[in-house]
Amino acid sequence: MVATTTSTSEGWSSRWAFILAAIGAAVGLGNIWRFPTLAGESGGGAFVIFYIGCVFLIGLPLILSEIFIGRAGQTDAVGSIKRVAAQSNASTNWSIFGAIGATAAFLILSFYSVVAGWVLYYAGVMGGDLLQAIGSGEPFRGALEGENQAQVQQRLTDMFANPGLLLAMHLAFMGATLFIVARGVHAGIEKAALYLMPMFFALLIGLVLYGAIEGDMGDAFTFLFTPDWSKLTPQVMNAALGQALFSLSLGVAGLITYGSYIKEGSGLGSTSALIAFADIGVALLAGLMIFPIVFAVGLDPAAGPTLVFQTLPFAFQTMPAGALFGFLFFVLILVAAVTSSISLLEVPTAWGIGERGWSRAKSATIFGGGAFVIGILCLLGYNVLSEVRPLGFWPLFENTDILDTIDGFTGKVMLPLGALLTSLFVGWKADRTLVRSVTGLSPLAFGLWRFLIAWLCPIAVAVILITGLFPGLL
Ligand code: PFF
Repeated sequence: MVATTTSTSEGWSSRWAFILAAIGAAVGLGNIWRFPTLAGESGGGAFVIFYIGCVFLIGLPLILSEIFIGRAGQTDAVGSIKRVAAQSNASTNWSIFGAIGATAAFLILSFYSVVAGWVLYYAGVMGGDLLQAIGSGEPFRGALEGENQAQVQQRLTDMFANPGLLLAMHLAFMGATLFIVARGVHAGIEKAALYLMPMFFALLIGLVLYGAIEGDMGDAFTFLFTPDWSKLTPQVMNAALGQALFSLSLGVAGLITYGSYIKEGSGLGSTSALIAFADIGVALLAGLMIFPIVFAVGLDPAAGPTLVFQTLPFAFQTMPAGALFGFLFFVLILVAAVTSSISLLEVPTAWGIGERGWSRAKSATIFGGGAFVIGILCLLGYNVLSEVRPLGFWPLFENTDILDTIDGFTGKVMLPLGALLTSLFVGWKADRTLVRSVTGLSPLAFGLWRFLIAWLCPIAVAVILITGLFPGLL
């Protein structure tokens, strides 16, 4: 029997605890691995400027909408949407987007943990190299001394060919995520954010300064901020909009879930703006950390997904104190990944607690364990299952391995669908008086926000959804 929705009694201990946890959820592999990769592949400036527009015009109104639903509903995503719908005389069937979001979060977690596992391995490799450097009395030498570029690149190929290694890393990362989420909102998620986010910002600033001193900041600036509008093709715009949703964790009900732990106060508009600014700030700083190093060594900024794993470790070889900063770089990505993966696991976990009446430990274990198993299939897709194409019948995913299929399906279908339904629900169905009282927006801000959420967001997101599914249209 399905238990009726219960309000959660868990909550953040302060407004800042929520803000740090929400920034932790947003800032992740998407900012430090995916954003520079996409910016590099898409030719830099025009992509970056269009992306910034997407974050503020489409992402920010959606952040506020998700937090509003959670703050008003005070329980898991499905239950919160039902409550807001009931208070607005709308159909409770709208809660379907909470279910889509929780499923998407669960699926994203499965491959996110695998990719974070690669980062964990590289942190280990660079950490070992640093220890060796210290042991040999040269703590400030470059990274991986004595290896040529082919050898550095070979490490990634060897890692992919080794399922045992990939599995061990995936297990360690998922285990840490599960441990934190099982401890609860206050003792787990909030505490992790309180310790890890300041560490993250300190590392980020340190690495940007390092890039500025040792790297080629001028070239990086030109690359990131000088637009060549001819490069802004429909595909690039589509990728920018999709990246904005992924990076801000939108469409997966993550901020509905985190918003439900806000117990008092409003001022949700400024809180949402802070999250958007922090996320974009980190993405830009990640670009200003990575590209000066890439340019200083004369490497290719358009290397693609291997930029972080093959290009950068080699770049750190020729840089002063490269062993130290190379290690810190991977620790930085790891910290960012953990605070995001806990938010991914929290969405289905809250659903199990609120809608099924499970204990937190049971719910987190079921969903963490399930995502771990799917993640195993993802990592086997790099070796023993490399021929498998789960959605091979669909031209869009014809040649796509298991991990990229789950990434592509969630990113191109589920996130835009979740975001589209969120904007339609909040823009057209939610009771306006309720929205105004819960968000605390001024009349002017409310009018602007309503225009964006009711008109611009659904249209723009529908365009991503349709062009993502039918690339031939572009
Ligand atoms: N925003 C995260 C990142 O940029 O890495 C990814 C993510 C986390 C997406 C949490 C969705 C989510 F619920």
